[in-house]
Amino acid sequence: MSAFISITDVHKVYRVGAGMLRRGQALQAVRGVSLAVAKGASYGLVGESGSGKSTLAKIVMGAERPSAGTVQIDGRLMDGRASALSWLRTCLQPVLQDPYGSLNPTFCVRQLVDEPLRIHHKGLSARELTLRVNTLLAQVGLPTHLALRHPRELSGGQKQRVAIARALALSPQCLVLDEPVSALDVSVQAQVLNLLDDMQAERGLTYLLISHDLAVVAHMSDHVGVMYLGALQEQGPVEQVLAAPRHPYTRALIAAAEPVRGRLAEPLQGEVPSPLAPPSGCVFHPRCPAASARCRREAPPLRQVAQGHWAACHNA
Ligand SMILES: Nc1ncnc2c1ncn2[C@@H]1O[C@H](COP(=O)(O)OP(=O)(O)OP(=O)(O)O)[C@@H](O)[C@H]1O
Ligand code: SF4
Ligand SMILES: [Mg+2]
Repeated sequence: MSAFISITDVHKVYRVGAGMLRRGQALQAVRGVSLAVAKGASYGLVGESGSGKSTLAKIVMGAERPSAGTVQIDGRLMDGRASALSWLRTCLQPVLQDPYGSLNPTFCVRQLVDEPLRIHHKGLSARELTLRVNTLLAQVGLPTHLALRHPRELSGGQKQRVAIARALALSPQCLVLDEPVSALDVSVQAQVLNLLDDMQAERGLTYLLISHDLAVVAHMSDHVGVMYLGALQEQGPVEQVLAAPRHPYTRALIAAAEPVRGRLAEPLQGEVPSPLAPPSGCVFHPRCPAASARCRREAPPLRQVAQGHWAACHNA
């Protein structure tokens, strides 16, 4: 199966604290990430806050340029040019964490959903637009009587359904979902995840899903990537990584998410170090129960430990 998203050795460095007379400090938000998401597949990225998940998502969405490395979408190199970005809008759409923040509050539901159509399909008549919006609202389970409501008049789950309808308006091939349910009540999370599952099955969509919640990724993804301090520590088929994690950080995340299944793993101690001063050697060594002198000295490369399963640990 061909890759829809192909990321090769992507880095992102931000300058923080820069001013007129100060150069500021380099903050490496993403370091050397390579991954591929097959057409129609679902890749889940997990990791603690600040691990670089959203930065990587922004790079894939074209909202940020990588400092180094390349991104190809459906075989096309994303070079930052306006033509590539405009093409990207028609085949890849974001769905973000905060549906309120990402929806224009002055628009009603109908306007929010038909805006992408009005921009990209200028020839559509008013009747055709109404028909398309009604179909999209029905597909995401929103009654048409909500079409004239504004975001503030909707529940969190309804707002996220509007965001999904809007993202689907141009019939994209791929959705980048950055924490799509983490702002919702637990009872509503499952409904929105099921909707995303149904949309993927019906439309053959490719998903890049980001969540700090391993259970969400386990439910939705075929492949999982575990990020820590900007780098992938482990990636592979989701069942394999969850059943036989090879990196101590993945084991700790599983233990935290599933205390019973992960009871043999050591709980995670301490906090994520500052990306402005990353630890030497293996970046995980200050928190790793298995760290040795070699780990403090030498960074472990990501290497294949089983078919399609990669881990960055000297002991993997
Ligand atoms: N525009 C920016 N300028 C400077 N630093 C940034 C910028 N955006 C992100 N960062 C930093 O890059 C690192 C990665 O941030 P990112 O938002 O990608 O993490 P995340 O994994 O999505 O975290 P969370 O789970 O909290 O959403 C963090 O240290 C963050 O402070
Ligand atoms: S390389 Fe060493 S410190 Fe890093 S995860 Fe493996 S055992 Fe732990
Ligand atoms: Mg984020």
